[in-house]
Amino acid sequence: MMKKIAILGCGTVGSGVAEVFYKNRTSIEQKAGCQLDIKYIYVRRPHPELPWQDKLCTDFDTIANDPEVHIVVEVMGGIEPAYRFVKTCLQNKKSIATANKELIACKGAELLAIAKQNHVNILFEASVGGGIPIIRPLHQCLGANEIDDIQGILNGTTNFILTKMIRNGMSFQQALDKASELGYAEADPSADVDGIDACRKICILASLAYGKHIYPEYVHCEGITHLTPQDVEYAKDWGGVIKLIAKATRCPQTRKISIEVAPMLVADESQLSTVDDVFNGILVTGDATGDVLFYGKGAGKLPTASSVISDVIDCAKSADTIDTLYWEDCTAQESASIIENWELLPVQSYLRLQLADRCQLEKIREIFSLPVLLARKNQPENEIAFVTPYFSPEQLNGILENLKKEGISLLGKIRLL
Ligand code: HSE
Repeated sequence: MMKKIAILGCGTVGSGVAEVFYKNRTSIEQKAGCQLDIKYIYVRRPHPELPWQDKLCTDFDTIANDPEVHIVVEVMGGIEPAYRFVKTCLQNKKSIATANKELIACKGAELLAIAKQNHVNILFEASVGGGIPIIRPLHQCLGANEIDDIQGILNGTTNFILTKMIRNGMSFQQALDKASELGYAEADPSADVDGIDACRKICILASLAYGKHIYPEYVHCEGITHLTPQDVEYAKDWGGVIKLIAKATRCPQTRKISIEVAPMLVADESQLSTVDDVFNGILVTGDATGDVLFYGKGAGKLPTASSVISDVIDCAKSADTIDTLYWEDCTAQESASIIENWELLPVQSYLRLQLADRCQLEKIREIFSLPVLLARKNQPENEIAFVTPYFSPEQLNGILENLKKEGISLLGKIRLL
């Protein structure tokens, strides 16, 4: 039997899906166990420059109402109209393969329930980690485990920017422009550099691992725009690098989840410290497996298309909804009861301070228990940097407020992984 596919969107990922599909069609069909073809590619307006002109379609209803279409690939991004289209397709008994992390992070529980009611699937391997298999391993291969911890570099663009700034001396803007040119960055790159994209991705992984929808609005999220080359130099002296880290951990006693996205100092010994450029790394700790590391290209046309097509294959193979890929919705009240307040959790932090006078160093030594001072080239006399003992962000902010009153200003603050 021939199963027909429709692709919604023909940007970087959509065109990559068509390209990889036609390049590897024979082996893809073999793995799917049936013949497959792309019947439609939905675009909002005509695009005479695109190949596959015979498949381009500007009318979504034609696709939604065509009984020959079994699988719909959604690679438009954003919530609307993707949400409306996906919902309609599921209700019309078409399975979905999507790369849309915003859609899954914001509407995942609802869409998974609609898929189940209609005995079809919504699969989203490409929504986290680009070409890295992580969604399927998490709910299938690691299914025997309680997941204790997930830590990852989940955004290719910011990792690319940080690597280029450190290694090639590129400015932030130059590196961001290059990431956009290579098709890594979001249409609005503030989603990358402000940590929002990584936040959506860790929410998807945490929802899958812990069975309840974790909504991004309840997760503490910081980006990389405030990082400076000076912080990078001090990090090196400390023995590590700065990475944008997304992490979710379940406390064994309270069963509450601590989840956050922020730039963090990662020690050279950590496997995540060597994840550079557009690569992503995700370290999952299961209670039976211990650490499992996933590594690969986290963004880009073909890696992302690879994950989307793996979902197309699974959609083609599945006669009904895949039960293990599921989580329940969670009200605002429930979210507050299952997510730890990050401001109360003790962490160590790197601080860079500007003293009003060198003799204030004694006070710093007293408050922070004789910290080892870090050094960098051309360090101004009154600038100091060091790593604090454990404080909650709330406590540390209180200390910094008091220091400010004495003329000691904060130049940089990054927590340790
Ligand atoms: N902008 C995203 C990133 C694309 O850089 O990781 C892949 O999700």
